[in-house]
Amino acid sequence: MARITVVGSISTDFVVTVSRRPELGETIEGELFETNFGGKGANQAVAVARLGAKTNMVGAVGNDDFGDLLIANLIEEGISVENVERVTEQPSGAAFINIEANDNSIIYIPGANGEVTRDSVNRARAAFDQSDFVLIQNEVIQEVVEEVIAYCFENRIPILLNPAPGRPLGDGYINKVTYLTPNETEFSILFPDEKMEDVMKRYPNKLFVTLGAQGVKYHDGNEIVKVDAFEPQEIIDTTGAGDTFNGAFAVAITKKLSIKDCVEFANLAASLSIQKHGAQTGIPLLNEMKDSEYYEKKWNIE
Ligand code: RIB
Repeated sequence: MARITVVGSISTDFVVTVSRRPELGETIEGELFETNFGGKGANQAVAVARLGAKTNMVGAVGNDDFGDLLIANLIEEGISVENVERVTEQPSGAAFINIEANDNSIIYIPGANGEVTRDSVNRARAAFDQSDFVLIQNEVIQEVVEEVIAYCFENRIPILLNPAPGRPLGDGYINKVTYLTPNETEFSILFPDEKMEDVMKRYPNKLFVTLGAQGVKYHDGNEIVKVDAFEPQEIIDTTGAGDTFNGAFAVAITKKLSIKDCVEFANLAASLSIQKHGAQTGIPLLNEMKDSEYYEKKWNIE
């Protein structure tokens, strides 16, 4: 069984579904309020675990009731929390999410996620050393992202950076990452004023730009490839679709699927994930992937 370590945020999502957003100073009635497990890191870890990899989480939660629930949820998903720290300086991370017309906007408050440090990464070295693959995103501080990238590069551990939320990163680090998966907004933050096709060509089979319902684009060494998204039966909540894509992509890579198959496998997982409320609720189990009409037997993932 492949071992994957996910470094990143573990948060509670406070989700409000509204027909429109209020103007400044206005009060409106919302349609639905939910509290869900979230955080890009935790969502990716859940995707990885549900799709059958042995999963380690590196992160932090606060010393509060939310922290208890967040850790219990990861354990319930079969994820190792040995490297999830309890910090006292900050409350557990939170995200305030507005869902409007099937799309969302998010305010993220890092809290304890911002307390993950280089030292936390160093303390988790044993987990990295035993891993076939490492996943990280930008809901932890920049120096943690840089430290993890540098460590994985030095130790030849394949690493995927999902640069969400978008923030600039030096070429030196971009070059050390094995896979990079920005959406269009994040792409333009990483590569301002550059044509997407040119940058893709510079990073063949490494840079995958996710385009939501339009699928994913990358350069395969010969040409730009566009892999279409699968049409979901219905769209309930797109929160966490990107995280599901990244987790599933990581699992597929460890199964040595071709790059195109990895993208298709990940696209299918993402399209299944948006058919339920909440970032983690819809993330499919491997069996649910296999039950899908779009599942390809050649993927042969156990
Ligand atoms: O990618 C979705 C996640 O980002 C949510 O679960 C929320 O925690 C946000 O930060």
